[in-house]
Amino acid sequence: MNDAAPNAAPQTFYLKDYKPFGYEVESVKLTFQLSPNATKVHSAIRFTPKADAEDNRFFLHGEQLSLISAKIDGTPVTARLVDGGLECDVPRTSFLWEAEVEIDPAANTALEGLYMSNGMYCTQCEAEGFRKITYYPDRPDVMSTFTVRIEGDEPVMLSNGNPTGAGEGWAEWHDPWPKPAYLFALVAGDLVNHPGSFTTKSGKDVELNIWVRPGDEGKCAFGMEALKKSMKWDEDVYGLEYDLDLFNIVAVDDFNMGAMENKGLNIFNSSCVLASPETSTDANFERIEAIIAHEYFHNWTGNRITCRDWFQLCLKEGLTVFRDAQFTADMRSEPVKRIDDVITLRARQFPEDNGPLAHPPRPEEFQEINNFYTATVYEKGAEVIGMLKRLVGDDNYYKALKLYFERHDGQACTIEDWLKVFEDATGRDLSQFKLWYSQAGTPRVKVTEDYADGTYTLTFEQSTPPTPGQPDKAPRVIPVAVGLLSPNGGEVRGTEVLELTEAKQSFTFGGLASKPVPSILREFSAPVILERETTNSERAFLLAHDTDPFNRWEAGNALAKEVRVAMVLDGAAPDAAYLDALEKLVRDDEQDPAFRALVLSPPSQSDIAQTLHERGHTPDPQKIYDAAETFTQTLAQQLETSLPRLYAATTVEGPYVPDADGAGKRALNGRILSLLTRLDGGEQAARQYASADNMTQQYAALAALMKAEKGETQSKAFFEQWQDDRLVMDKWFALQIACAAPETTAATAKELTQHPLFSMKNPNRFRAVMGALAGNHAGFHHASGAGYQLLAENLIALDSVNPQTTARMCAAFQTWKRYDSERQAQIQAELERILATSGLSRDTHEMVSRMLSA
Ligand code: PHE
Ligand code: ZN
Repeated sequence: MNDAAPNAAPQTFYLKDYKPFGYEVESVKLTFQLSPNATKVHSAIRFTPKADAEDNRFFLHGEQLSLISAKIDGTPVTARLVDGGLECDVPRTSFLWEAEVEIDPAANTALEGLYMSNGMYCTQCEAEGFRKITYYPDRPDVMSTFTVRIEGDEPVMLSNGNPTGAGEGWAEWHDPWPKPAYLFALVAGDLVNHPGSFTTKSGKDVELNIWVRPGDEGKCAFGMEALKKSMKWDEDVYGLEYDLDLFNIVAVDDFNMGAMENKGLNIFNSSCVLASPETSTDANFERIEAIIAHEYFHNWTGNRITCRDWFQLCLKEGLTVFRDAQFTADMRSEPVKRIDDVITLRARQFPEDNGPLAHPPRPEEFQEINNFYTATVYEKGAEVIGMLKRLVGDDNYYKALKLYFERHDGQACTIEDWLKVFEDATGRDLSQFKLWYSQAGTPRVKVTEDYADGTYTLTFEQSTPPTPGQPDKAPRVIPVAVGLLSPNGGEVRGTEVLELTEAKQSFTFGGLASKPVPSILREFSAPVILERETTNSERAFLLAHDTDPFNRWEAGNALAKEVRVAMVLDGAAPDAAYLDALEKLVRDDEQDPAFRALVLSPPSQSDIAQTLHERGHTPDPQKIYDAAETFTQTLAQQLETSLPRLYAATTVEGPYVPDADGAGKRALNGRILSLLTRLDGGEQAARQYASADNMTQQYAALAALMKAEKGETQSKAFFEQWQDDRLVMDKWFALQIACAAPETTAATAKELTQHPLFSMKNPNRFRAVMGALAGNHAGFHHASGAGYQLLAENLIALDSVNPQTTARMCAAFQTWKRYDSERQAQIQAELERILATSGLSRDTHEMVSRMLSA
């Protein structure tokens, strides 16, 4: 992606410019002669001009390729190399295009196209990486069948589809399902497999494999079970079956993202598939299960039905995230999953939607599509589907999905196609709903209430602040799930979904004996910011009595935020009533431990900063940090007498099982341990560290000790024990920075960048260090500016190695306008320094310019 001349004006692509490709691609045959620095790729592609094409230009994408030869129907031709690809004069009838190119996988540190990771060949083609493998119409609406021959001396050589032959030094594959080039994959190396099998509901046997480096075989069993559960779930819930005889997953150490849904050959960041009790935490297990499901679900939502162009990315990603969330809710706990998702949405998507990088779930322009694999496209994209389902109801939702698969199987589709299916299946007009796809920004919904003569009225006002390029917004359809409680705790009206469609709208509820307590936006029925004047005692009431578990947590969360905001702004002491409510909840064994752990987890410091900013204050990161510390210390003291007993009561005995039940108990136990460590000098945590036989408890003990600055011995021991395990070492790197005090955070991170095990070439390791730096709110935003400076320096260094990961991590600066003028000036200087770097990638260039120009 560094082809463009330095600082050349970047090209912008627009949705409105879409034009179909002028040729049909009948079939693709690829032959790879593998060699680390000089792999040869021969392509034989049959093209047929489309009779109705408005544009017959024959342009093939290609980047960083050395063209050796090109032929049409066997006769050598001269192609014209142009910016980003080649052009050639071609016949007006069907013809066979052949090209031979040479590429250098060992030098490919961008991890896009064909590259090497630990001596193994692998590919990453989404979104536009196939053009680094050979000349091709690299766009998702061009679909074809692929036949692949791999020549090389690697013991295992894999591609998409089914194996069709193999011998000494070669292997052949054929994928019968037409697919866009972004789903192409090839893997070759010294790999071992963990096998499994699955019989589909129509009785077809599917061979399953997880391929890993020798030594990692013992970390595949959990992933294999997750895969089988996903296959079964998609049959049971969506009626969708797998469509090949073989499904392969490969674990790769160097990978820019989480995983990739290549047809029949999913490639995973090893952190998202390898799991064992000794090396993985409960959170890791849950994430692995979800990502395996996500990639598997893409086989239908993404592969069988793909995107017409990359502006439609949320068509496959929003839907697949929505499906994997349904799966996790079914496998584990529905309310806990919902709460977790809302926490992530607020932590990742809200800042994006309310800052300079805001964009609609379906953007209308981009410079570098890799910059749009965002929380908005993924998480907000999934929220939009959740709203749609809520509005049409479950039966209509599955009816529409059935129609979607029937009507569009084998096609490359748009958001219009998707919404039309819902309109046809339900008879509903979705034109206003569609604004969710085209408007950026998080709507604010202000609620006021009125009660007279047994009638209760809720009035809603919606508005969305301006976002880049969108100063004014029309009102959207917002489903607001509401329930009413009586003042003594019972439910007087069960959940109803109110449909907001206007800027201001009222809803009345009659026949009430007394003024009810409303529970609004149950299950977080829409991704909005709810504004309502209420009291802490009403929040405490809802925390105790709401029949909607999400809103029960939400009441506690809102209360926690109010208490924290008051501490920051007025130097108030932690609210005693809130502390009492927490204490009551912690001790209440009737309550789900996972829920108790969530209520005990404080809102993040960044969340407090955002809240202060929304209310017109300038957040002071150090004050927010101090308030968090004071609050936790006070809570620990309040619970002092019961902590040892609570710790003992919540300790999970017996062999480790990574299920939701055990995970919830361990999460609660971990919270209690961290409080206890503030009072007992680390005695209990040291004992837990010494006796832990699983990573969840070992890590929880280490984190508690390090946070209390009592973990030096254990941190050394941890390093000694795990230095050869890359994934565990990522935890070790990150934890030291996450636990550092504000004034030492940047120095700690800097020291770690000099550690022999730090590397710019491994995205996981880079993210462990720089992600932890950006995630330590008070440390990153320390007044010295050292955090900003360190991140900028490292991003500049990474950009020439791996533009994609650099650009993604630049987003750490996206909240810069929240802070005071000194901090803004410091960040602006760093952003300008990055932008002035010569030869800056277009990925990073786009991100930094957007942040500076808003
Ligand atoms: N499509 C992948 C997923 O969501 C993510 C991805 C995007 C991976 C681009 C690599 C490159 O499952
Ligand atoms: Zn995806």
